[in-house]
Amino acid sequence: MSSDSANAEGSLDALLSEERRFAPSAAFRARAVLSDAGVYALATADREAYWAGWASELHWFSRWREVLKWKPPFAQWFAGGKLNVSYNCLDRHVQEGHANRVALFWEGEPGDTRTYTYGELLAEVCRFANGLKGLGVKKGDRVTIYLPMIPEVVVAMLACTRIGAIHSVVFGGFSPESLSDRNNDAAAKVLVTADGGWRRGTVVPLKANADEALAKSPTIEHVVVVSRGGSLSEQVGVSLRPGRDHWYHDLIATASDVCPAESMDAEDTLFILYTSGTTGKPKGVMHTTGGYLTQVYATTKSVFDLHDDDVYWCTADVGWITGHSYVVYGPLSNRAQVVIYEGGPDWPDRGRLWQICERYGVTVFYTAPTAIRSFMRWGEEWPEKSDLSKLRLLGTVGEPINPEAWIWYHETIGARRCPIVDTWWQTETGGIMITPLPGITETKPGTATLPFPGIDIAILNEKGEPTSAGYLAITSPWPSMLRGVWGDEERYRKTYWSQWKDVYFAGDGAKRDEDGYYWILGRVDDVLNVAGHRIGTMEVESALVDHPAVAESAVVGKKHDIKGEALAAFVTLKEKHAGSDALMKELREHVGKKIGAIAKPDLIVFTADLPKTRSGKIMRRLLRDIAEGRAVGDTTTLADPAVVRKLQTQYQED
Ligand code: WT7
Repeated sequence: MSSDSANAEGSLDALLSEERRFAPSAAFRARAVLSDAGVYALATADREAYWAGWASELHWFSRWREVLKWKPPFAQWFAGGKLNVSYNCLDRHVQEGHANRVALFWEGEPGDTRTYTYGELLAEVCRFANGLKGLGVKKGDRVTIYLPMIPEVVVAMLACTRIGAIHSVVFGGFSPESLSDRNNDAAAKVLVTADGGWRRGTVVPLKANADEALAKSPTIEHVVVVSRGGSLSEQVGVSLRPGRDHWYHDLIATASDVCPAESMDAEDTLFILYTSGTTGKPKGVMHTTGGYLTQVYATTKSVFDLHDDDVYWCTADVGWITGHSYVVYGPLSNRAQVVIYEGGPDWPDRGRLWQICERYGVTVFYTAPTAIRSFMRWGEEWPEKSDLSKLRLLGTVGEPINPEAWIWYHETIGARRCPIVDTWWQTETGGIMITPLPGITETKPGTATLPFPGIDIAILNEKGEPTSAGYLAITSPWPSMLRGVWGDEERYRKTYWSQWKDVYFAGDGAKRDEDGYYWILGRVDDVLNVAGHRIGTMEVESALVDHPAVAESAVVGKKHDIKGEALAAFVTLKEKHAGSDALMKELREHVGKKIGAIAKPDLIVFTADLPKTRSGKIMRRLLRDIAEGRAVGDTTTLADPAVVRKLQTQYQED
């Protein structure tokens, strides 16, 4: 294991001495979707029957022939089955008499609001689906979605699934270059964007960014532009290129609100979502239809214990997998009432999220540890100003949660009444994999506890032997597993299936305790987790080296109180360039421009040399030691040990 996880292990020992236990209350258990621990044994006894049971709760145009075909590393779930995701999220509920039930409570950052019932959402999705068809979008075509958190982002995703187009949602904070890279990799035909969105009182100029990307996106034939509305649309002038660009409102104005849902094969691709890996280029993680919907449906219902009267809010942006699975597909397939908020959590003040909880009567709240640490720092006075008494269940995702934040969440937000579900999963797993079941599991702060029923997890060493501390592995195929990397089968095999035979390598270190609970130690590869978002160090290094002054760079993680991890970049400059504060600023901006603001390094250290082995490999382990300000490990394999000494003195001076 890398030194990262060795360090994580140090703090884990402290975690493991955590003695506090939190059992579900009798009242919670009495009403819970799942309250009988027998569900674990039931699922283990016949995994395929267990998952088929969940799949049967969805609507199928025709039933599958076989639950699972497994030719490692390729799985097919519910082969031969036909279904449609938007049908399962909308039509089914409307037909069952729920046309007037609220699907979305939306709130914009400036305070504007919109509510969509299931009936209204279905009509809007049909109109936009017809609009897309009118632009020539066909089954299997790729559509890039680059939108803020407004209802149209949900409409656009569902409209794609309705006609069998494959969506690729690109987070609105990504740069034009990231957007064009993704357009090109997927060979997308249509781009859906907006004039802009609000973030902390300022406008994110999405169409302007998109225009920059479009200059380098030759496969895009049409662009649909949503007018965000209100003062934003008055402020932001956008130019539409005739023939290519269309206003969303014009497109749907004449479109019919009837659009039959395409019958999709269970294994047809539903979406692509790009995520960072260990190379400079993000990979397009592919998910398919039947298995994905089954697992996100099942986990949303049982992990978030959804009941008819719940108001559910997952704060993630739909640009990430959490937004796909637990803002859109999981909740809507469960007929949930979903809250969506456009803007920043501290805008106009630090009580915004709690005001929203009170306004809509939120009962289930799902967020990230990094957000919880910010709330903690802002102080209890903010949540105390709002009535949070409707909350009954809390969730976290994205990174290990430190017990201090867990306890604060439990006491200050949950008033000691709400169970907390700490859910471990990944873009690649599609749905939740390790999690408490809130009516069953006794939780301990800091652990995601046990695999969801029907999920097989193990901790293995390098040789693939079971151990209690090592690499996290998934030992059987699961319904919402990724089916590949778009256009790169070799990368799929190599990244996930080459470590051991027929076992999935998650890229995380983990430890199991005496209760069999899993404690996640963090990534073991060159991927960092900054504020719950995955950033590949190679990607940031390529962005830095792209700057004309930079000769070479190495990026490592550095502990951060709020973000969990922050980026530290060690940079060597080309001749005739000298390090300065101005250049530091310029480099940060450059990374922001190449990738997006989330990838800007917190710290840049200029150095004459980087520590390398005799074969020329940069020793990141030593850079991590330097960035953390701790004793530098073994330097005997260095080509020139003096480099590290110099860096250390310099770093201390900085
Ligand atoms: C990586 C996946 C899944 C949605 C958000 C992130 C880390 C995720 C937990 C958790 C400890 C966690 C892992 C994982 N992670 N959830 N509950 N406890 N670590 O998705 O960007 O694909 O990142 O996030 O390191 O591998 P992602």
